[in-house]
Amino acid sequence: MLEDVQGMVRLGLLLLAVVVLRKFIDWRRAAASVNNLPGFRTLFSDRFVWFPFRVDGISPGLQSEVNLYRKYKDFEEAGWDIMAGVSVLPSAEVTVFLADPVVVKDVIGARARFPKPMGPYKILLAFGPNLVASEGEEWKRQRKLVAPAFSEKNNKLVWDETVRIMEDLFDNVWGSKDTVEIDNITDLTVPITLLVIGVAGFGRRISWKDEAVAPDGHQMTFKQALHIVSRNLFLQLMFPRWLLRWGLPVMRNFYTASNELQFYMQEMIVARRTAEVKEERHDLFSSLLDANEGLAESGEKLTDDGLLGNVFIFMVAGYETSAHTLAYCFILLALYQEEQEKFYQSIKQVLSDGHTPTYEEFSTLSYSMAVFNETLRLFPPVITIPKQSAEDTSFTTTNAAGEKRTIPVPKGTYVTVHTPGLHNNSKYWEDPDAFKPARFLKDYPRDCFLPFSGGPRGCIGRGFSETESIAVLTLLIARYRVEVRPEPQFAGETFAQTRARLLKSKLSVTLYPQRAPLVFKRR
Ligand code: HEM
Ligand SMILES: *[C@@H]1O[C@H](CO)[C@@H](O)[C@H](O)[C@H]1NC(C)=O
Ligand SMILES: *[C@@H]1O[C@H](CO)[C@@H](O)[C@H](O)[C@H]1NC(C)=O
Ligand SMILES: *[C@@H]1O[C@H](CO)[C@@H](O)[C@H](O)[C@H]1NC(C)=O
Repeated sequence: MLEDVQGMVRLGLLLLAVVVLRKFIDWRRAAASVNNLPGFRTLFSDRFVWFPFRVDGISPGLQSEVNLYRKYKDFEEAGWDIMAGVSVLPSAEVTVFLADPVVVKDVIGARARFPKPMGPYKILLAFGPNLVASEGEEWKRQRKLVAPAFSEKNNKLVWDETVRIMEDLFDNVWGSKDTVEIDNITDLTVPITLLVIGVAGFGRRISWKDEAVAPDGHQMTFKQALHIVSRNLFLQLMFPRWLLRWGLPVMRNFYTASNELQFYMQEMIVARRTAEVKEERHDLFSSLLDANEGLAESGEKLTDDGLLGNVFIFMVAGYETSAHTLAYCFILLALYQEEQEKFYQSIKQVLSDGHTPTYEEFSTLSYSMAVFNETLRLFPPVITIPKQSAEDTSFTTTNAAGEKRTIPVPKGTYVTVHTPGLHNNSKYWEDPDAFKPARFLKDYPRDCFLPFSGGPRGCIGRGFSETESIAVLTLLIARYRVEVRPEPQFAGETFAQTRARLLKSKLSVTLYPQRAPLVFKRR
């Protein structure tokens, strides 16, 4: 009997040893497949979302804020502008991280050779079939249908409506107050972008002081539903529908709100289909509907599910990224008063008589754009862009001494653009840690600046986001000076400490500043 047990234990240990050896051999082989390029050597890969922390040997923790704070450092330590992460579990895998602009350009430009791995995007299908979570022919079909909605006319609508929203804020919410204190800058930027996506995305104007009574047949107003859904999108990604329906109050509330939002959108679909005279409208949703209706009943057409899926995805992809980028803009301007002053002077010069800028003047506001770009360089909301090699290929890169090295990249290797590394690559950027918007007014290393990715799968909402942000920044800074709000408990801080405190970031769907109290003072 005892011998049996001992025998079993011995067998068990032997099996374990075989498995461990096998894993070790696989891991060595994986590292060898990229010629042992230096980088992370860990148990889990950075795609292992359940362990988003950095622990040497265990996990690189790149799906957290680490990536942002480390920027180019990991590459500096590895010695090359490309590094390899080799992990053991669940299976031996290689991820090649890129901060080399030449290689990055090649990768994002070649959609067929470097498609997106669909694994990490699958959860986005919870909203319905959509542009972000598709590849190959399906992606092509979706992109062809969705692209025309992001038109010049939509950009103009974004501009005009953003101006209206900002003026509504100044006139009816901030009113005659000379100083406006904000506990947390995202409390200002999130509602702004929500109102913008409400009207320019969904075609529904919402004001800051909206009535709170739901129309007949609804349990919530459009604004309430939009607000609850957008703030809790992660619930949709984490839990199945039935659990949301019967779960905790916050889940049930989300469930109701997302149903309400769908009802509103279905009502809009019906209203538009049955309208006698079609109004000319340029919000994303209306354009998408029109484009879809125009198609014959061929395989090209999106189902109502596909329509809703895409509109939801505009919200996921577009509203947090924009809100949080604006938040970083205001924090940086508050910290760097001399930069804010230069920006203000440039606005005064362009709008010398103090008039409200029109969409046609957009191109003259290049300083606003430079502030926006410099913020995105330092705080890109999307910190990794995942791709996967569809064929055996190779990359050539350099080290600090200018030596070249060619790395084989076998088919199936994960290839990830490391945006914060690229944006801080000191071979291309002068003084990369500094906040200097004016660097964008000169010749700058374009291939080293990719907050919106690029190539065929680049951000489709870039124009939308730029238009909205330039309007917000220009209108606000023209009227108000933004400063860090003094708090007694932080009175003895140095500048570096204040900077670190305000810019402390966290990653949810995108990167955001955790807590930044600011104050707006009328000029
Ligand atoms: C500061 C604001 C924004 C940033 C930094 C940003 C960044 C990005 C990035 C990096 C990608 C590529 C993602 C990947 O390859 O995994 C992307 C794709 C996309 N973005 Fe944006 N985005 C912003 C605003 C917007 C807005 C306002 C919208 C829509 C209203 C939008 C809609 C999309 C869509 C639909 C895609 C997928 C395109 C495709 O796969 O063909 N984004 N964005
Ligand atoms: C960015 O690059 C500069 C110059 O190489 C370096 O001194 C700095 O540490 C980098 N920043 C981060 C956060 O890695
Ligand atoms: C800002 O960056 C975009 C690319 O995202 C570029 O097209 C534009 O020219 C830049 N403009 C300024 C003024 O920095
Ligand atoms: C500030 O806003 C962020 C993002 O919305 C939130 O997570 C955080 O809890 C807020 N902090 C405070 C102190 O309100």
